[in-house]
Amino acid sequence: MPIPTAPKAGTFEGGCAFCDGAFVALADAKISLFDWGFTRSDATYDVASCWKGAFFRLGDHMDRFFASLDRLRLSIPYSRAELREILHGCVRAGGLQDAYVAMVCTRGVPPKGARDPRLATNRFYAYALPFVWIAPPDKQAAGIDLHVSERVRIAPESVDPRVKNYHWIDLVQSLFDAYDRGRDTSCVVDAQGHIAEGPGFNVFMVKDGVVHTADRGVLEGVSRRTVIELCQRLAIPLTIAPLPAATFRQADEVFLTSTGGGVLPVARLDGVPLPQFPGPISKRLQDAYWALHDEPAYRDPVDYGR
Ligand SMILES: Cc1ncc(COP(=O)(O)O)c(C=O)c1O
Repeated sequence: MPIPTAPKAGTFEGGCAFCDGAFVALADAKISLFDWGFTRSDATYDVASCWKGAFFRLGDHMDRFFASLDRLRLSIPYSRAELREILHGCVRAGGLQDAYVAMVCTRGVPPKGARDPRLATNRFYAYALPFVWIAPPDKQAAGIDLHVSERVRIAPESVDPRVKNYHWIDLVQSLFDAYDRGRDTSCVVDAQGHIAEGPGFNVFMVKDGVVHTADRGVLEGVSRRTVIELCQRLAIPLTIAPLPAATFRQADEVFLTSTGGGVLPVARLDGVPLPQFPGPISKRLQDAYWALHDEPAYRDPVDYGR
């Protein structure tokens, strides 16, 4: 499907959306009340970041988005090159250097009276906003207090966690639990009591010099993958296996990974200070994560000249 020429840099200062095939101001981006993306959470999405004028690992985010579309039997009328152009266009038109950039596909609206998802025309949306942190920089410096919730993440047998999805009621309820207890954010467990993930992030711990993270029941985060690759590059021992909550509470260091902030060291678990904050391995990985943003293989610079 042809893409309209992206508006000039800064046309929609502060943020831009791509909706119904056109670049529009954020306030003009709308979806139907009857879209199954809204009424059934029948949608997938992905979020990439743009930092200092360049996308980070955009190809990996687009790969995951197209894989999620296939798994949910959704499709968009754009090629990979066109998708890239749309996302660049949103950042450029929004006049953004550091941006949160989302691509979304919903099932759409089936014909009146029909309940057959095959009859719906899938809808595609994208938007770029100023960068959104999982925890703002002042909170990161003060130290994130993570609530380890007993709430169970929706079963991977029910909703494939590798598909980035809007099934967030469990995560949102765990956030309320965290706030009720005076904590900053939360993570949930799987049915066997292993640490799963949190609202927008994967979870890691360090114990006796070894980095640990869950092997299943989680979104395969692009930032998680970056940390896994950095551990290999920096020869830091790594175990990817089920992580019991009781073991997690004995961690030396804990950190979260997300496109919304990269590697985020945690200071406390349920109010109890961790032995090391920011721990030396978390700090090393955090520094290495941001250093990667300068490596050409990971960067896709936005052209603001048009
Ligand atoms: C449930 C969940 N887990 C993990 C992540 C981290 O994924 P990524 O590193 O690709 O941002 C996210 C990101 O939004 C998420 O929603």
